[in-house]
Amino acid sequence: MKIVMVGSGYVGLVSGACFADFGHEVVCVDKLESKVSALKRGEIPIFEPGLSEIVRSNAAAGRLSFTTDLAGPVAGADAVFIAVGTPSRRGDGFADLSYVYAATREIAGAIRGYTVIVTKSTVPVGTGDEVERIIRELRPDADFAVVSNPEFLREGAAIEDFKRPDRIVVGTDDERARAVMADIYRPLYLNNAPILNTGRRTAELTKYAANAFLATKITFINEIADLCEQVGANVQDVARGMGLDNRIGGKFLHAGPGYGGSCFPKDTLALIKTAQDHGTPSRIVETVAAVNEQRKRAMGRKVVAACGGSVRGKTIAVLGLTFKPNTDDMRDAPSIAVVTALMDGGATIRAYDPEGMEQAKAVLPAGVTYCRDAYECVAGADAAVIVTEWNIFRALDLDRVKAAMVAPVLVDLRNVYRAEQVRAKGFTYADVGRGL
Ligand code: UGA
Repeated sequence: MKIVMVGSGYVGLVSGACFADFGHEVVCVDKLESKVSALKRGEIPIFEPGLSEIVRSNAAAGRLSFTTDLAGPVAGADAVFIAVGTPSRRGDGFADLSYVYAATREIAGAIRGYTVIVTKSTVPVGTGDEVERIIRELRPDADFAVVSNPEFLREGAAIEDFKRPDRIVVGTDDERARAVMADIYRPLYLNNAPILNTGRRTAELTKYAANAFLATKITFINEIADLCEQVGANVQDVARGMGLDNRIGGKFLHAGPGYGGSCFPKDTLALIKTAQDHGTPSRIVETVAAVNEQRKRAMGRKVVAACGGSVRGKTIAVLGLTFKPNTDDMRDAPSIAVVTALMDGGATIRAYDPEGMEQAKAVLPAGVTYCRDAYECVAGADAAVIVTEWNIFRALDLDRVKAAMVAPVLVDLRNVYRAEQVRAKGFTYADVGRGL
């Protein structure tokens, strides 16, 4: 199959590289000249385990190429995927579809012969209809179908998720398009990945519903964690006790500082807006988004409490800045709210993250001291806070940490340590939802 991937961001690059790895001929298109030339040199703009290997090997095999020219490759393509960004629109939170529609107009001008246009970006219900309308208006002669094929991969586990998906959702009523999509995903059929053929609008909504539900699960367990702290219960045991019920499932029940990232915050807001616009407001998702927002800042107050009620004049070491481990992504990371709250309280911040330091510098308040490793970070600190559960923070030499700190206070917002283990070393230890 000849595939064009429009947009070489997170989803586009991972999907393009994985399709090439399935044996398809893939051209990744991006407007950014600098990104395209870097990719041609084998330099990957994002940190994602396994991605650079798969990009390089498929590029070397001639199956994967990069260009800024959209028209040429689209003219010969069986399928053109739109994988451009859909950020939150300033002001109302609705998904900004300007990149999707700009790509659509360019694609419309270039298609030749039967072409399947696939929205892979997370797009609100009805976007596929508008994509179809635009192409039809610009090219009444064109032979094409518009399919919704949302992507469910997670950052940090993107390749694995793409190659071993829980399901593939293909939204179209066009039989020919379904056959093309079946050919594209054929290697995954062999892995027994369930393919869900649905209408286009259903596929679009499925993506938002899935992300909003996961965000709800996390927010629910975070509230239960707060209650656990008040009543002396252990949220990890509660989550396990709940999760062993197959109807609930154990995943996404890890209490923490609130969800962040490029998807849940943006997608919950977009779903809220869509639901309001259709006169069926989603009170649950509205509450989830509001509770999660408050929680991130509340984590700053947790650190203040662990420091005896004030951080004024104190130095706090922040371990982990990205919204989750194994990524360099700082978008909507809880660390931003935590650091800001602590600085507002008069603290001096030292910070370290294994991959996200450059991105963090662009979004954290000025005045943060960036350190080379965890031990340099905790040196002279009055408290250390684990905000992101990178593996290296799971296995810290606690004696060394304690010796380097002014006061041995550890706030573990990801519950990576056992309280007894840390307290036995002489630390004041606070975690999330594990008893008093
Ligand atoms: C999420 C979804 O998991 C993917 O299925 C989806 O494709 C993707 O959004 C998207 O729409 O593109 P991602 O944002 O990469 O993936 O990361 P997650 O692993 O879902 O984590 C999101 C946030 O929730 C992180 O801040 C994480 O720390 C937090 N989280 C996750 C918890 O606090 N507790 C949990 O139990 C799980």
